[in-house]
Amino acid sequence: MSKKPTPASKVLDRVLVLEMVRVTEAAAIAASHLVGRGDEKAADHAAVEAMRKAFDELYIDGTVVIGEGERDEAPMLFIGEKVGGAPDKGPKIDIALDPLEGTTITAKAGPNALAVLAAAEEGCLLNAPDVYMDKIAVGPGYPDGVIDLAKSPTENVKAVAAAKGVKPEEIIVCVLDRPRHEALIAELRSLGCGVVLIGDGDVAGVIAVTDENTTIDMYMGSGGAPEGVLAAAALRCVGGQFNGRLLFRNDDERGRARKWGIDDLDKIYKLEELAKGDCIFAATGVTSGSLLEGVKHLKGGKMTTESVVMRASSGTVRWIKGEHRDT
Ligand code: FBP
Repeated sequence: MSKKPTPASKVLDRVLVLEMVRVTEAAAIAASHLVGRGDEKAADHAAVEAMRKAFDELYIDGTVVIGEGERDEAPMLFIGEKVGGAPDKGPKIDIALDPLEGTTITAKAGPNALAVLAAAEEGCLLNAPDVYMDKIAVGPGYPDGVIDLAKSPTENVKAVAAAKGVKPEEIIVCVLDRPRHEALIAELRSLGCGVVLIGDGDVAGVIAVTDENTTIDMYMGSGGAPEGVLAAAALRCVGGQFNGRLLFRNDDERGRARKWGIDDLDKIYKLEELAKGDCIFAATGVTSGSLLEGVKHLKGGKMTTESVVMRASSGTVRWIKGEHRDT
């Protein structure tokens, strides 16, 4: 896909790009103490607290648009919460965050747990309710519209294979390993595709399509809608295509979507409808995986982190290794 440059936001300061990494680093370090300890809740809580505190250091008037849930279900980083150290003074920024993407992964010391956030000008990130989203993604370099969630998995695989100049059986698809994906996996295997099954963590799963080293061509299947917006923000920065459609299990979930202004419940969202304008995506590894190294605790209280931060308007991707002292 030929990528048109995104106009740089007047609100998102360049300095903020690097500052965002401090926030994801703080959350990742806090969660890292709980890796492999079998306690999802404690790991999540540590990451949430650390991320909430780190935001105070930023000169922004931020609003959480995707967070830990609604006000009555999350004590911190709930949807609508104001964050940042400059309320009413700093730039107005909307933030989508997941202080610990992969709570189970962290508890079990599996791969690809991340602390992650996306930031954009006010109104530029879809306020996705915490429901499931059907997702399909490919990396950069494909003609616009090569994937289409309205089409079957078979049609999508064939279209991507034709555009890549390979047979469908050479296409590798990443899918969350869930019983609900049984039919999808069977369909992909009947085409001869390679299916990479991941236990959790579909933000990293979607981003994997943008990295040739993973050999993953496509991402398919349903996962969290908030994670869909976060992954879309990353793809806005590095290129690639993404379609997402909200999935509702009951009227309560439909009601929640309407509350956030979503009227067309069957809409297929493209990348720019999930994260539009200029945006920043930042992630720090909690555990090591395809995207990032996890936090390492070394002798003498030294810790190392690996983060990635990207900006849509410049297309710049920075990989940042940090060394920290455990104080
Ligand atoms: P958590 O960090 O909230 O546990 O999310 C992990 C995750 O695997 C996401 O990456 C994914 O979008 C979602 O859970 C899938 O949900 P489910 O586990 O219900 O299939």
